[in-house]
Amino acid sequence: MDFSKHLLLLLCIVVSVLFDCTNGSSMLLERAKEPEFMDWMVGIRRRLHENPELGYEEFATSELIRKELDSMGIVYKHPYAVTGIVGFIGTGKPPFVGLRADMDALPIQEGVEWAHKSKVPGKMHACGHDSHVAMLLGAAKILQERSSELQGTVVLIFQPAEEGGGGAKRMIDEGVVQNIDAIFGFHITSEIPFGTVASRPGPIMAGSGFFEAVITGKGGHAAIPQHTIDPIIAASNVIVSLQHLISREADPLDSQVVTVAKFQGGSAYNVIPDSVTIGGTFRAFSKESFMQLTRRIEEVIVRQASVQRCNATVDFLTDKHLFFPPTINNPSLHAHFQKVASDIVGPANVRECQPVMGAEDFAFFSDAVPATYYYFVGMQDESKSLASVHNPFFTINEGALPNGAAIHASLALNYLSEFGNNFPNKGKVDDASHDEL
Ligand SMILES: *[C@@H]1O[C@H](CO)[C@@H](O)[C@H](O)[C@H]1NC(C)=O
Repeated sequence: MDFSKHLLLLLCIVVSVLFDCTNGSSMLLERAKEPEFMDWMVGIRRRLHENPELGYEEFATSELIRKELDSMGIVYKHPYAVTGIVGFIGTGKPPFVGLRADMDALPIQEGVEWAHKSKVPGKMHACGHDSHVAMLLGAAKILQERSSELQGTVVLIFQPAEEGGGGAKRMIDEGVVQNIDAIFGFHITSEIPFGTVASRPGPIMAGSGFFEAVITGKGGHAAIPQHTIDPIIAASNVIVSLQHLISREADPLDSQVVTVAKFQGGSAYNVIPDSVTIGGTFRAFSKESFMQLTRRIEEVIVRQASVQRCNATVDFLTDKHLFFPPTINNPSLHAHFQKVASDIVGPANVRECQPVMGAEDFAFFSDAVPATYYYFVGMQDESKSLASVHNPFFTINEGALPNGAAIHASLALNYLSEFGNNFPNKGKVDDASHDEL
């Protein structure tokens, strides 16, 4: 009797130790750092780097991802938004948690000479999306190995066309995120040290829009201005007035940007042109501020041009460049991220960052999914400074791949066990649309 009680106790201890070990987040990082695992991820990243593809043309990229998913035995649906892929790991039942990586490259000629330099002239993975794909595949491998532990379903989202093509929006329009309760996205960055990760609750990336205006006057001889209506002067005043939107109308504590980056008009020293075209971008961290800027940019251009007797038309170019909403991090998921990331890289390496004025199409998920969260994976190399993103000399510290893979995997694994069905999901769960599982 006594003996069996002790045996039971011993068994309990053994089971709980085993359970802790297999479930411990640091084990996920250990797994991702194993030489064979690491080589596999680095290999994927380098193959993608050699063959960069622009938005909605990621055909070889998509094929490579599908082959890897096949070899891991992960089921997926394809195509979404031309080249996108959605994979599923776990029970096939709610709750659903999403992990997202973007796949597209940029129209930049690589300037770095190295063994795996881009083989496609004028195209380059200069924003690290090659590493994002490798890290999400790494997370998928870890999760597939632990699929019996998943208390729900992890949805892997490989999306095309992040760089201005609105790939996230298109995948959402095609129903990818239906029923997903929460979704995590990441970006590699040389702004923070290797080994660290950073994020913040609330707005983390700005909303972004573009505009172009044609200011029309009446051209003529530059020495006889009284017979002309000068659009150069009108455009100049428009630009100065646009700057007052930020300095005089916006709340100084609510960061916003209006930049005129394009000014085209005239081609001779002695001819006043008929018209001038100006264009630029604007950024804000809330939808309200963004819509206010949109309204006022148009008003200021049209009315200020009229002061100099010119007419103006304003185009926000939304057919080619969608307005990107701000990327907003859910506060509950921030607490979740801090806990999960601390377990993996240590609390001292989990940092809080400032919001960034750049825009990210991950923001579209914020509108479509109850809770979204975006974070940065550090790769700053103390021995050499790395060029920043969208630069021909951009390089990656591949040592950061296991961190992203392990954290992405752990965010999903622990989300399912901790939040389960209790996360507010606006009552959207609809089993039927996931019956392909
Ligand atoms: C501005 O538009 C009005 C109304 O169409 C037109 O009468 C006027 O000539 C235009 N002015 C210029 C400078 O194009």
